[in-house]
Amino acid sequence: MTTARKSIHGSWSSRLAFVLAATGSAVGLGNIWKFPYISGEHGGGAFVFVYLLCIGIIGVPIMMAEVMLGRRGRQSPINTMRALAQEAGADPRWSWLGWSGVTAGFLILSYYSVIAGWALAYMFRAMAGTFTGATAEGIASIFEQLTGDPERLLAWHTVFMVLTMMVVARGVRSGLEQAVRYLVPALFVLLIMLDGYAMASGAFHQGLEFLFTPDFSKIDANGVLIAMGHAFFTLSLGMGAIMVYGSYMPERVSIARTSIIIALLDTLVALLAGMAIFPIVFANGLEPGAGPGLIFQTLPIAFGHMDGGLVFGTLFFLLVAFAAWTSAISLIEPAVAWLVENKGMTRVHASMYAGIATWGLGLLTIFSFNRWADFHPLPFIPIFKDATLFKLLDYLTANIMLPLGGLFIAVFSVWVMKRDDSLQELDMGDGAAYRLWYAVVRYVTPVAVAIVFLNVTGLVDFSGLLGLAE
Ligand code: TRP
Repeated sequence: MTTARKSIHGSWSSRLAFVLAATGSAVGLGNIWKFPYISGEHGGGAFVFVYLLCIGIIGVPIMMAEVMLGRRGRQSPINTMRALAQEAGADPRWSWLGWSGVTAGFLILSYYSVIAGWALAYMFRAMAGTFTGATAEGIASIFEQLTGDPERLLAWHTVFMVLTMMVVARGVRSGLEQAVRYLVPALFVLLIMLDGYAMASGAFHQGLEFLFTPDFSKIDANGVLIAMGHAFFTLSLGMGAIMVYGSYMPERVSIARTSIIIALLDTLVALLAGMAIFPIVFANGLEPGAGPGLIFQTLPIAFGHMDGGLVFGTLFFLLVAFAAWTSAISLIEPAVAWLVENKGMTRVHASMYAGIATWGLGLLTIFSFNRWADFHPLPFIPIFKDATLFKLLDYLTANIMLPLGGLFIAVFSVWVMKRDDSLQELDMGDGAAYRLWYAVVRYVTPVAVAIVFLNVTGLVDFSGLLGLAE
């Protein structure tokens, strides 16, 4: 038995603290902003079905694997992968997995922060009463005004990055734990209230039907890949965020149980958000496939017409920004932990450098919504014909880098690492539960990811078999 390593960065104060931090990482713009708009773009029910399936058979097992690797390695993902590869007598170049994760984290945060900036901007609009009594067209023009103005977007992006790097600089325990403790329950309460409004909107039934009645002729191979990519994105998997959080996890905490709790909470938030948004979409004759602006064009209508909408609207966008904040921290933590470990930097300096790099990269996303809105870098690939830089960044990270990262994490955990080591670290005994995890991560997850990839490239065609759209 190897002696347990210790993290130089400190650890969470308790099991609850880990659950809160990991839930804070998982619950974010992915649930409230991205899930509704991509479900709307890909036809609803069938997309939601594939997403839920991926959460269950890919997300939960990979989350367990990531937490396990992190807790065993107790370092930044780059160094954890190197140490664990050495321990297993494998090639130290497994640390590349950590590098690709750090890269994905930078790229994701660069656009994530811009969208979080929208939420901040909307919080002030709600507070000022801008939405009161506004029509759907009025709300749409507020959105266009904001996204059409690069300077305003840059200002909010800057505010959000500064807030994020401030928490990261202070370290994992101060601040973050406390923030999440109140945020997640508050977010639930507000979403449930919005669902109450949606129920009374007259189109609740239509909204539910859109979300939960699968029609596989409405989703194509690319839609399936996007649903799978989103399962990784929403659970913060495939780039080392959950691994680095796992590295701060106390011993003797059940990895299986906590992973399941986090996945359930995360899924619940996404579904509650979807159930609030689509009834409003249909009741106001809006387009489910409106794209990244969907929540910003629908929910203000609700706030503009409900009693106390001013307060709830302000609070809602505040909570969205908060949820994004606790997620953003985990996107950059692997890089910061590595800078501290390998470059001898203080957390403050490491956070500054990482933050400035991400901030600069954010300009690509900012201009994608205005000056470069007509710049489509890959017109020769049919699915990217109309894609802006923002869309490509999102696609590359969420649908390619994260699933690939997850695939390698799976392969490492059960094909490279010794079975005894994962058995010891997962600490659930050599019973049915462990064996199920082992078999799923060994066979089901890699095969599922591979099929979805091959199908979308057209190298192998399963679409006909599954009844998908062409
Ligand atoms: N899961 C977060 C969300 O849904 C985003 C996020 C945080 C993330 N850390 C991550 C996505 C790591 C991918 C990888 O908003």
